[in-house]
Amino acid sequence: MKAWTASGDAAVIVPAEVGEPVPAAHEAILEVEAYSVNRGDWFALTGAYGESAAAGTVPGQDVAGRVVAAAADGTGPAVGTRVVAHATGGGWAERVAVPTTAIAALPERIPATVAATLPLAGLTALRLLRRAGRLAGRRLLITGASGGVGHLVVELAVAAGATVTAVAANAERGQRLAEFGAQVRYDITAAAGPFDVILESVGGDTFTAAVDRLAPGGTVVWFGQASREPIRLDFFRLFAATPLTLHHFAHWISDTTDAADLAELVELVAADAVHPELGRITDWADTPTVLTDLAHRRIRGNAVLTR
Ligand SMILES: NC(=O)c1ccc[n+]([C@@H]2O[C@H](COP(=O)([O-])OP(=O)(O)OC[C@H]3O[C@@H](n4cnc5c(N)ncnc54)[C@H](OP(=O)(O)O)[C@@H]3O)[C@@H](O)[C@H]2O)c1
Repeated sequence: MKAWTASGDAAVIVPAEVGEPVPAAHEAILEVEAYSVNRGDWFALTGAYGESAAAGTVPGQDVAGRVVAAAADGTGPAVGTRVVAHATGGGWAERVAVPTTAIAALPERIPATVAATLPLAGLTALRLLRRAGRLAGRRLLITGASGGVGHLVVELAVAAGATVTAVAANAERGQRLAEFGAQVRYDITAAAGPFDVILESVGGDTFTAAVDRLAPGGTVVWFGQASREPIRLDFFRLFAATPLTLHHFAHWISDTTDAADLAELVELVAADAVHPELGRITDWADTPTVLTDLAHRRIRGNAVLTR
Protein backbone atom coordinates (compact mmCIF):
# COMPACT_ATOMS: atom_id res chain seq x y z
CA MET A 1 0.00 0.00 0.00
CA LYS A 2 1.01 3.65 -0.38
CA ALA A 3 2.36 5.58 2.59
CA TRP A 4 4.62 8.44 3.59
CA THR A 5 7.75 7.29 5.38
CA ALA A 6 10.45 9.12 7.33
CA SER A 7 13.43 9.65 5.03
CA GLY A 8 16.04 10.14 7.76
CA ASP A 9 17.51 13.06 5.80
CA ALA A 10 16.68 16.61 4.72
CA ALA A 11 13.67 15.48 2.69
CA VAL A 12 12.03 14.52 6.04
CA ILE A 13 9.38 12.30 4.39
CA VAL A 14 9.20 10.41 1.09
CA PRO A 15 6.40 8.44 -0.59
CA ALA A 16 6.84 4.66 -0.47
CA GLU A 17 5.19 1.28 -1.05
CA VAL A 18 5.02 -0.45 2.33
CA GLY A 19 3.57 -3.70 3.62
CA GLU A 20 0.01 -3.90 4.93
CA PRO A 21 -0.29 -3.20 8.71
CA VAL A 22 -0.20 -6.36 10.83
CA PRO A 23 -2.67 -5.89 13.71
CA ALA A 24 -2.23 -7.16 17.26
CA ALA A 25 -5.32 -8.91 18.70
CA HIS A 26 -6.60 -5.66 20.25
CA GLU A 27 -6.18 -3.61 17.05
CA ALA A 28 -8.60 -2.89 14.21
CA ILE A 29 -7.50 -2.03 10.68
CA LEU A 30 -8.84 1.28 9.37
CA GLU A 31 -9.03 2.51 5.78
CA VAL A 32 -7.76 6.09 6.11
CA GLU A 33 -9.91 8.81 4.56
CA ALA A 34 -8.27 11.85 6.18
CA TYR A 35 -5.39 12.52 8.55
CA SER A 36 -4.04 15.62 10.22
CA VAL A 37 -0.46 16.77 10.62
CA ASN A 38 0.70 18.21 13.95
CA ARG A 39 3.66 20.25 15.08
CA GLY A 40 4.56 17.23 17.21
CA ASP A 41 4.86 15.09 14.05
CA TRP A 42 7.36 17.60 12.69
CA PHE A 43 9.25 17.54 16.00
CA ALA A 44 9.40 13.72 15.97
CA LEU A 45 10.56 13.64 12.35
CA THR A 46 13.27 16.26 12.86
CA GLY A 47 14.67 15.09 16.18
CA ALA A 48 13.30 17.63 18.67
CA TYR A 49 12.55 14.79 21.11
CA GLY A 50 16.03 13.24 20.73
CA GLU A 51 16.64 10.86 17.82
CA SER A 52 14.84 11.65 14.54
CA ALA A 53 12.23 9.08 13.47
CA ALA A 54 14.01 6.10 11.88
CA ALA A 55 14.07 6.00 8.07
CA GLY A 56 11.18 3.90 6.78
CA THR A 57 8.88 4.64 9.75
CA VAL A 58 5.33 5.60 8.73
CA PRO A 59 4.30 8.69 10.80
CA GLY A 60 0.73 9.71 11.58
CA GLN A 61 -1.42 9.70 14.70
CA ASP A 62 -4.66 11.43 13.75
CA VAL A 63 -6.90 9.52 11.37
CA ALA A 64 -10.53 9.35 10.29
CA GLY A 65 -11.87 6.58 8.10
CA ARG A 66 -13.66 3.26 8.20
CA VAL A 67 -13.02 -0.11 9.87
CA VAL A 68 -12.01 -2.72 7.28
CA ALA A 69 -11.00 -5.44 9.79
CA ALA A 70 -12.33 -5.61 13.35
CA ALA A 71 -10.01 -6.49 16.27
CA ALA A 72 -9.46 -10.23 16.69
CA ASP A 73 -10.18 -10.01 20.44
CA GLY A 74 -13.77 -8.87 19.75
CA THR A 75 -13.35 -5.36 21.17
CA GLY A 76 -14.08 -2.13 19.31
CA PRO A 77 -16.21 -1.24 16.30
CA ALA A 78 -17.42 -3.64 13.61
CA VAL A 79 -16.31 -3.70 9.98
CA GLY A 80 -17.82 -0.80 8.05
CA THR A 81 -18.08 1.59 11.04
CA ARG A 82 -16.96 5.17 10.34
CA VAL A 83 -14.42 6.12 13.00
CA VAL A 84 -11.91 8.63 14.28
CA ALA A 85 -8.77 7.27 15.92
CA HIS A 86 -5.56 8.20 17.68
CA ALA A 87 -2.94 5.85 16.25
CA THR A 88 0.49 5.29 17.75
CA GLY A 89 1.94 5.89 14.26
CA GLY A 90 1.35 4.61 10.76
CA GLY A 91 -1.55 6.95 9.94
CA TRP A 92 -0.10 8.65 6.86
CA ALA A 93 -0.96 5.61 4.80
CA GLU A 94 -3.85 3.90 3.04
CA ARG A 95 -4.51 1.66 6.04
CA VAL A 96 -3.43 1.66 9.69
CA ALA A 97 -3.76 -0.66 12.70
CA VAL A 98 -5.09 1.09 15.83
CA PRO A 99 -5.80 -0.24 19.35
CA THR A 100 -9.55 -0.31 19.96
CA THR A 101 -8.99 1.76 23.13
CA ALA A 102 -8.13 4.67 20.83
CA ILE A 103 -11.05 4.49 18.36
CA ALA A 104 -14.46 6.20 18.52
CA ALA A 105 -17.43 5.88 16.19
CA LEU A 106 -18.15 8.82 13.91
CA PRO A 107 -21.66 9.84 12.82
CA GLU A 108 -22.17 10.26 9.06
CA ARG A 109 -22.83 14.01 9.43
CA ILE A 110 -19.32 14.77 10.74
CA PRO A 111 -16.91 15.00 7.80
CA ALA A 112 -13.69 12.98 8.02
CA THR A 113 -11.76 16.25 7.56
CA VAL A 114 -13.23 17.67 10.76
CA ALA A 115 -12.86 14.39 12.67
CA ALA A 116 -9.19 14.08 11.72
CA THR A 117 -8.41 17.22 13.76
CA LEU A 118 -9.77 15.69 16.96
CA PRO A 119 -7.22 13.11 18.13
CA LEU A 120 -4.01 14.84 19.18
CA ALA A 121 -5.26 18.44 19.24
CA GLY A 122 -8.64 17.55 20.75
CA LEU A 123 -7.37 15.13 23.37
CA THR A 124 -4.72 17.66 24.34
CA ALA A 125 -7.23 20.51 24.62
CA LEU A 126 -9.68 18.46 26.66
CA ARG A 127 -7.02 17.17 29.05
CA LEU A 128 -5.28 20.55 29.39
CA LEU A 129 -8.52 22.08 30.60
CA ARG A 130 -9.15 19.21 33.01
CA ARG A 131 -5.65 19.76 34.40
CA ALA A 132 -6.31 23.48 34.73
CA GLY A 133 -9.22 22.73 37.08
CA ARG A 134 -12.24 24.95 37.65
CA LEU A 135 -12.67 27.46 34.82
CA ALA A 136 -15.89 29.37 35.58
CA GLY A 137 -15.08 32.95 36.53
CA ARG A 138 -11.33 32.45 36.22
CA ARG A 139 -8.92 34.47 34.05
CA LEU A 140 -7.12 32.18 31.61
CA LEU A 141 -4.14 33.04 29.39
CA ILE A 142 -3.11 30.83 26.48
CA THR A 143 0.01 31.47 24.41
CA GLY A 144 0.60 29.89 20.98
CA ALA A 145 -3.16 30.06 20.69
CA SER A 146 -3.55 30.09 16.92
CA GLY A 147 -2.70 26.40 16.41
CA GLY A 148 -4.95 23.37 16.42
CA VAL A 149 -4.82 22.96 20.20
CA GLY A 150 -5.26 26.67 20.89
CA HIS A 151 -8.48 27.08 18.90
CA LEU A 152 -10.09 24.13 20.68
CA VAL A 153 -8.92 25.28 24.12
CA VAL A 154 -10.27 28.78 23.59
CA GLU A 155 -13.71 27.62 22.44
CA LEU A 156 -14.02 25.09 25.29
CA ALA A 157 -12.69 27.45 27.97
CA VAL A 158 -15.02 30.31 27.00
CA ALA A 159 -17.95 27.87 27.05
CA ALA A 160 -16.87 26.74 30.54
CA GLY A 161 -17.10 30.34 31.78
CA ALA A 162 -13.45 31.44 31.77
CA THR A 163 -12.37 34.91 30.71
CA VAL A 164 -9.86 34.02 28.04
CA THR A 165 -6.89 36.01 26.76
CA ALA A 166 -5.21 34.42 23.73
CA VAL A 167 -1.82 35.38 22.32
CA ALA A 168 -1.54 35.03 18.52
CA ALA A 169 0.90 36.52 16.02
CA ASN A 170 -1.50 38.92 14.28
CA ALA A 171 -5.15 39.76 13.51
CA GLU A 172 -5.52 37.05 10.88
CA ARG A 173 -4.21 34.43 13.29
CA GLY A 174 -6.46 35.71 16.05
CA GLN A 175 -9.67 36.19 14.06
CA ARG A 176 -11.43 32.91 14.98
CA LEU A 177 -10.15 33.12 18.56
CA ALA A 178 -11.84 36.52 18.88
CA GLU A 179 -15.02 35.09 17.34
CA PHE A 180 -14.93 32.34 19.98
CA GLY A 181 -14.91 35.07 22.64
CA ALA A 182 -11.23 35.49 23.54
CA GLN A 183 -9.49 38.80 24.03
CA VAL A 184 -6.69 38.48 21.50
CA ARG A 185 -3.26 40.02 22.07
CA TYR A 186 -0.51 40.04 19.47
CA ASP A 187 2.32 39.99 22.00
CA ILE A 188 2.54 38.50 25.46
CA THR A 189 3.65 41.89 26.81
CA ALA A 190 0.23 43.30 25.82
CA ALA A 191 -1.58 40.73 28.01
CA ALA A 192 -2.23 42.69 31.21
CA GLY A 193 -3.12 39.96 33.66
CA PRO A 194 -2.97 38.79 36.34
CA PHE A 195 -4.21 35.34 35.26
CA ASP A 196 -5.45 32.49 37.42
CA VAL A 197 -4.60 29.86 34.78
CA ILE A 198 -1.82 30.01 32.19
CA LEU A 199 -1.48 27.45 29.39
CA GLU A 200 1.98 27.92 27.87
CA SER A 201 3.44 26.16 24.83
CA VAL A 202 5.84 28.58 23.13
CA GLY A 203 8.83 28.46 25.51
CA GLY A 204 11.80 30.85 25.77
CA ASP A 205 11.05 34.41 26.83
CA THR A 206 7.31 33.88 26.27
CA PHE A 207 7.19 31.46 29.19
CA THR A 208 8.97 33.90 31.49
CA ALA A 209 6.70 36.77 30.44
CA ALA A 210 3.61 34.59 30.90
CA VAL A 211 4.57 33.47 34.41
CA ASP A 212 5.23 37.12 35.35
CA ARG A 213 1.48 37.57 34.81
CA LEU A 214 0.35 34.77 37.12
CA ALA A 215 -2.01 35.67 39.98
CA PRO A 216 -1.02 34.50 43.49
CA GLY A 217 -2.10 30.88 43.91
CA GLY A 218 -2.46 30.47 40.14
CA THR A 219 -1.80 27.44 37.95
CA VAL A 220 0.61 27.14 35.04
CA VAL A 221 0.18 24.22 32.67
CA TRP A 222 3.35 23.95 30.59
CA PHE A 223 2.56 21.86 27.54
CA GLY A 224 5.01 22.62 24.79
CA GLN A 225 7.96 24.54 23.39
CA ALA A 226 6.95 25.50 19.85
CA SER A 227 9.90 27.90 19.56
CA ARG A 228 12.29 25.09 20.64
CA GLU A 229 13.83 27.68 23.01
CA PRO A 230 14.25 26.33 26.58
CA ILE A 231 12.69 28.35 29.36
CA ARG A 232 14.43 30.29 32.12
CA LEU A 233 12.81 30.62 35.54
CA ASP A 234 13.86 32.91 38.38
CA PHE A 235 13.01 31.39 41.77
CA PHE A 236 12.79 34.78 43.46
CA ARG A 237 10.52 36.32 40.80
CA LEU A 238 8.05 33.47 41.36
CA PHE A 239 7.41 34.71 44.92
CA ALA A 240 5.03 37.25 43.37
CA ALA A 241 2.67 34.36 42.47
CA THR A 242 3.40 31.90 45.26
CA PRO A 243 1.95 29.44 46.20
CA LEU A 244 1.66 28.62 42.50
CA THR A 245 1.17 25.22 40.86
CA LEU A 246 3.25 24.23 37.83
CA HIS A 247 2.21 21.20 35.77
CA HIS A 248 4.45 19.66 33.12
CA PHE A 249 1.74 18.34 30.82
CA ALA A 250 1.78 15.24 28.61
CA HIS A 251 -1.47 14.39 26.81
CA TRP A 252 -0.96 10.64 27.27
CA ILE A 253 -1.15 10.90 31.07
CA SER A 254 -4.88 10.48 31.56
CA ASP A 255 -7.39 8.58 33.68
CA THR A 256 -9.61 8.21 30.61
CA THR A 257 -9.00 6.25 27.41
CA ASP A 258 -8.48 7.97 24.09
CA ALA A 259 -11.63 6.21 22.88
CA ALA A 260 -13.74 7.74 25.68
CA ASP A 261 -12.34 11.23 25.16
CA LEU A 262 -12.63 10.99 21.37
CA ALA A 263 -16.28 10.01 21.83
CA GLU A 264 -16.74 13.12 24.01
CA LEU A 265 -15.11 15.31 21.35
CA VAL A 266 -17.28 13.77 18.62
CA GLU A 267 -20.37 14.55 20.73
CA LEU A 268 -19.23 18.17 21.17
CA VAL A 269 -18.77 18.56 17.41
CA ALA A 270 -22.12 16.87 16.70
CA ALA A 271 -23.81 19.22 19.17
CA ASP A 272 -22.29 22.24 17.36
CA ALA A 273 -20.39 23.13 20.55
CA VAL A 274 -16.88 22.77 19.11
CA HIS A 275 -15.67 23.94 15.70
CA PRO A 276 -12.12 22.83 14.85
CA GLU A 277 -10.27 25.43 12.80
CA LEU A 278 -9.35 23.83 9.46
CA GLY A 279 -6.59 26.10 8.24
CA ARG A 280 -5.61 23.80 5.39
CA ILE A 281 -7.41 20.91 3.68
CA THR A 282 -5.53 19.40 0.79
CA ASP A 283 -4.66 16.17 -1.04
CA TRP A 284 -2.33 13.81 0.78
CA ALA A 285 0.21 14.26 -2.04
CA ASP A 286 0.81 17.70 -0.47
CA THR A 287 1.92 16.28 2.91
CA PRO A 288 5.58 17.43 2.56
CA THR A 289 4.48 21.01 1.75
CA VAL A 290 2.05 21.00 4.66
CA LEU A 291 4.78 19.83 7.02
CA THR A 292 7.08 22.63 5.87
CA ASP A 293 4.31 25.23 6.10
CA LEU A 294 3.43 24.04 9.60
CA ALA A 295 7.05 24.28 10.67
CA HIS A 296 7.23 27.84 9.29
CA ARG A 297 4.02 28.94 11.02
CA ARG A 298 2.07 29.37 7.79
CA ILE A 299 -1.04 27.41 8.89
CA ARG A 300 -3.80 28.62 11.23
CA GLY A 301 -5.43 25.85 13.23
CA ASN A 302 -5.20 22.29 11.91
CA ALA A 303 -3.91 20.95 8.60
CA VAL A 304 -5.82 17.99 7.16
CA LEU A 305 -4.87 15.71 4.28
CA THR A 306 -7.42 13.70 2.35
CA ARG A 307 -7.17 10.59 0.17
N1 LIG B 1 2.47 18.17 25.89
C1 LIG B 1 1.67 17.53 25.05
O1 LIG B 1 1.21 16.41 25.31
C2 LIG B 1 1.33 18.20 23.73
C3 LIG B 1 0.35 17.64 22.89
C4 LIG B 1 0.04 18.30 21.69
C5 LIG B 1 0.69 19.48 21.36
N2 LIG B 1 1.65 19.96 22.19
C6 LIG B 1 2.35 21.22 21.89
O2 LIG B 1 1.39 22.23 21.97
C7 LIG B 1 1.72 23.30 21.09
C8 LIG B 1 0.51 23.58 20.20
O3 LIG B 1 0.27 22.41 19.41
P1 LIG B 1 -0.46 22.58 18.02
O4 LIG B 1 -0.62 21.24 17.45
O5 LIG B 1 -1.62 23.48 18.21
O6 LIG B 1 0.68 23.34 17.22
P2 LIG B 1 0.56 24.38 16.03
O7 LIG B 1 -0.76 24.20 15.37
O8 LIG B 1 1.79 24.29 15.24
O9 LIG B 1 0.57 25.76 16.82
C9 LIG B 1 1.76 26.25 17.39
C10 LIG B 1 1.44 27.59 17.99
O10 LIG B 1 2.62 28.16 18.58
C11 LIG B 1 2.74 29.52 18.10
N3 LIG B 1 4.12 29.99 18.11
C12 LIG B 1 4.52 31.09 18.73
N4 LIG B 1 5.82 31.25 18.62
C13 LIG B 1 6.28 30.25 17.88
C14 LIG B 1 7.56 29.91 17.40
N5 LIG B 1 8.65 30.63 17.69
N6 LIG B 1 7.67 28.80 16.66
C15 LIG B 1 6.57 28.08 16.36
N7 LIG B 1 5.32 28.37 16.79
C16 LIG B 1 5.19 29.45 17.55
C17 LIG B 1 2.09 29.50 16.75
O11 LIG B 1 1.58 30.81 16.53
P3 LIG B 1 1.80 31.67 15.23
O12 LIG B 1 2.64 30.90 14.26
O13 LIG B 1 0.44 31.99 14.74
O14 LIG B 1 2.52 32.83 15.79
C18 LIG B 1 0.93 28.55 16.96
O15 LIG B 1 -0.15 29.24 17.54
C19 LIG B 1 2.95 22.84 20.31
O16 LIG B 1 4.08 23.38 20.94
C20 LIG B 1 2.92 21.33 20.48
O17 LIG B 1 4.20 20.76 20.37
C21 LIG B 1 1.96 19.34 23.36
